[in-house]
Amino acid sequence: MAWNVGAGLEGKGVLVTGAAGGIGKSVAEAFGATGARVMAVDLDQGAVEAVVAGLPGGGHLAVGANLRDLGALTGLVGRARQELGSLDVLVHLAAVLRRRLNIDEVTEEDWDFQIDLNFKSTFFLARAAAGAMRDQGRGGRVILFSSQGWWTGGLGGSVVYNAAKGGVVTMARGLSRIYGPHGITVNTVAPSFVITPMLMSGLDPTMLESWKTATPLGRLADPGEIAGPVVFLASDHASFISGTTLNISGGFLNY
Ligand SMILES: NC(=O)c1ccc[n+]([C@@H]2O[C@H](COP(=O)([O-])OP(=O)(O)OC[C@H]3O[C@@H](n4cnc5c(N)ncnc54)[C@H](O)[C@@H]3O)[C@@H](O)[C@H]2O)c1
Repeated sequence: MAWNVGAGLEGKGVLVTGAAGGIGKSVAEAFGATGARVMAVDLDQGAVEAVVAGLPGGGHLAVGANLRDLGALTGLVGRARQELGSLDVLVHLAAVLRRRLNIDEVTEEDWDFQIDLNFKSTFFLARAAAGAMRDQGRGGRVILFSSQGWWTGGLGGSVVYNAAKGGVVTMARGLSRIYGPHGITVNTVAPSFVITPMLMSGLDPTMLESWKTATPLGRLADPGEIAGPVVFLASDHASFISGTTLNISGGFLNY
């Protein structure tokens, strides 16, 4: 077989959440290019339909769903399994960031809004997907999204958001122990600063400049620079990588 980065992904079923977002769209496109079938999920149904219409390859579908609705998650996973033929990979990107530069302004509603999606739904979705993979009996990959903030504690008014992102790293480590015996790997990716609507929302431009300066590569990441490592983690090349957090920060962090 010729070497390619999408090795093993041809014909696989991949569930991508937050697929209408900056990074999610790029991830969905990258999986489409490997020959995988993608179920792209996002709160914004119109936007995710547009993403799917532009994907390379075939057999993809777009689904509008609110992932904060825990009761819908098992059905969503079941639909992926049925409509894609199998569910082999979950890439869970959907998340929300509500910046509060003054911590005294964080409300309970801010807390619930971010923790419900970024942390609580992440557990129930990952469990539903890994459970389906276990039942299929052919292994699988779960890839969760953390952030540089799991390590730094968060920059730019994002303590609550990053408390969840730290929890996601710990959760993935725990899940990797539980699902490993079923051939299912569980990993997280931790990007630093990626040019997307989320990064830019409510941001002071001087802060952005300081982050560029603190990054040895001297720039922000393009979403495609996150999609490549995600496809790698889902591919045969990463078959013995589990419980890890992939630091994608242009040298901003060293760990
Ligand atoms: N952009 C960055 O610099 C950066 C850095 C570190 C980590 N991340 C992480 O990468 C992932 C993708 O971020 P992004 O920058 O592409 O963000 P984005 O805001 O561009 O995309 C997020 C997507 O999630 C969707 N979404 C929001 N709430 C939802 C819900 N309740 N149900 C379903 N979908 C919902 C949105 O509609 C949006 O399309 C996130 O997990 C984010 O925390 C981003």
